[in-house]
Order: sequence, then structure tokens, then C-alpha cells
Amino acid sequence: MEISKVGVVGCGLMGHGITQICSQAGWELVVREVDQDKLDKGLAKIDKQLGRAVEKGKLEQSDADAIRARITGTLDYADLADCDLVIEAMTEDLAGKLEMWAAVDGIVKDDAYFATNTSSLSVADQAAATKRADRFLGLHFFNPAQVMPLLEVVRSGETSDDASKLGFDLGETLGKTTVAAGDNRGFIVNRLLVPYMLDAIRANEQGVGSIKDIDTGMMAGASHPMGPLTLADFVGLDTLASIADVMAESYGEERFAQPETLRKMVSAGNYGRKSGKGFYDYSGEKPVPVDAGG
Ligand code: 3HC
Repeated sequence: MEISKVGVVGCGLMGHGITQICSQAGWELVVREVDQDKLDKGLAKIDKQLGRAVEKGKLEQSDADAIRARITGTLDYADLADCDLVIEAMTEDLAGKLEMWAAVDGIVKDDAYFATNTSSLSVADQAAATKRADRFLGLHFFNPAQVMPLLEVVRSGETSDDASKLGFDLGETLGKTTVAAGDNRGFIVNRLLVPYMLDAIRANEQGVGSIKDIDTGMMAGASHPMGPLTLADFVGLDTLASIADVMAESYGEERFAQPETLRKMVSAGNYGRKSGKGFYDYSGEKPVPVDAGG
């Protein structure tokens, strides 16, 4: 199937990036949010990234304008009706996703494909909320979607060869490196990355090193672009906590369980970079580790 119009549900951390790169590929985009404030914030992030690309000379102003003009924001699922592909990028809440898919399934044209960008929830469970499990797949992008090269293409037992091919073709069009991942909790990357971040939190709890030293250690000692605690803040501590819960329940292994520090930080509303505070305090010019008085 030829794609010309893509719907994205959610314009947050992942949704705005997915919307931007799909528009850059030349497709018409409709992005849906729950309220005007969230929609405005998401679209403003796209404007900021496009503006930066123009400033750096990586994009002509006219191209940035065209990319932005192909994106329409909406609060109404009805505007997704003629999309060829709908990508879900909501928060990691299965009940919310199921409710959305059931509503959207009745609105979007029958031959359209549906994809979830879930980090950890079951693709099959979400597909079952629709009457098109054969045209339902996982497309797992990484943050920031504009930069990270990987796209995990996930098949449930019901995903057709056509739908899977659509995922790999889409990845190629977007210039992504694609990998095939099974419909297990965390797919490939989060299965390995999430326990690593959780273990870094435990290492800090146990006094193995300060926040800064743990991060510096992994950057300078293993050539990671970010240390694990900076990365946890970057992913979002609320997101990390909900992925940990799903994986702990699914695998029944202690290494996937939320450390106490993470649980307390999320309860206090400290979600990392997006809320202004996590393992670092982001209110100043430079992030300050919270165990250093931030
Ligand atoms: N949106 C768009 N572009 C961005 C961006 C953003 N949020 N942040 C950075 N960039 C771009 C910059 O504009 C710059 O582009 P240029 O090379 O064309 O000038 C480029 O990325 C490099 O940025 P910077 O020079 O500002 O900073 P860094 O070199 O430190 O790179 C980074 C920033 C790419 C975020 C790098 O630190 C990195 O790769 N970090 C690790 C990120 C990671 O591991 N992500 C995966 C998280 S796990 C996940 O997403 C799965 C989920 O399910 C939990």
C-alpha cells in the first residue's frame, strides 16, 4: 500500500519527533493530542527543532516551512479517518491505549495500518482491541526520534507479511536502521537497556558512586554518549518506572523491578528532564546532580 497520509496519536516526547520525521519524508501528517495546551507544546517542539536545523544550515527555510505545513494538529480522532497509517505514541498505559484503538478502529478507513510505538506493552494485546490485527504492528522509535538511527519492527502472531514489510519499508524511507523484534516485553533494546539504567540507580543507592561519577564512568569507560542516570532523566523517570513494572511482571525477575529511589522520585513528580528535576536539577544553566546539592 502507498502511504500518503500518516496519523500520530500523541505529540509528546516521542510523538512530536515521529511526526516531524514522517513529515520530512514527504507525507501528510495529522497529530492528535488530548487538549490544546499539550498539542501547542508538541507542535512548538517541532517548530524549535526545524528552526535549529535551519540555523545550522542543514535545512532551507522553505523546506522547513513545507515540512511544517504538511502537519495538522487536532484534538479529534475523526481527523484521522483517511490516514493510511496511524502510529500510537501515547503514555505507557495499556487501558488508555486500548480505549484509543477501539475508538480509532471505528473511524479510520478499513485498509489502513495501525502501529504502536510502545516501549514495553504487548503489540498483540493492543491489536486485539481492533478488527485489523493482521494490519497491526509495533514500530518502536528511540528518543530523540529525529536523531536515533534505530527502528524496531515488531510482529505479533497476527501481523501479516504485508504489515511487517510496511514497517521495514517505512524505516528505509525514514533512513532508519531496522531490526526485527519479537513481541516480548521490552523488545530487544529496552530488554537490555532498562535493567542497565535500573542497576545504575541501585549502584547509586548502594554508594557505589555519585550520580556524576556513575555517569562519567560509563561515558568515559564505555564510550556511551550519556551516562545511565542522565539517560534515565532523558527517557523520563515515569516512563522508565512503567516499563520496569511491565517487565518485572512479565519476566518475574528482580533485575527489572523499580528501585526504591525511582519509585519515590516518580511519586514526588520528579520525572527527569521533562519536569525539570530527576537525578539532575535542570533549572539552572547546566544540569546539577541532585546528590551534589541541586
Ligand atoms: N530533537 C532533535 N534533534 C536533537 C535533539 C532532539 N531532542 N537532541 C539533539 N538533537 C540533535 C542536535 O540538533 C544535533 O544535530 P546535528 O548533529 O545535526 O547538529 C545532534 O542531535 C547532536 O546533538 P548535540 O550536539 O546537541 O548533543 P550530543 O552530541 O550530546 O547528542 C544525543 C545528543 C543525540 C541525545 C546523544 O546524547 C545521545 O545519543 N544520547 C543517547 C540517547 C539514547 O540512548 N536514546 C535512546 C533512549 S531509550 C528509548 O528511547 C527507548 C524508549 O522506549 C525508552
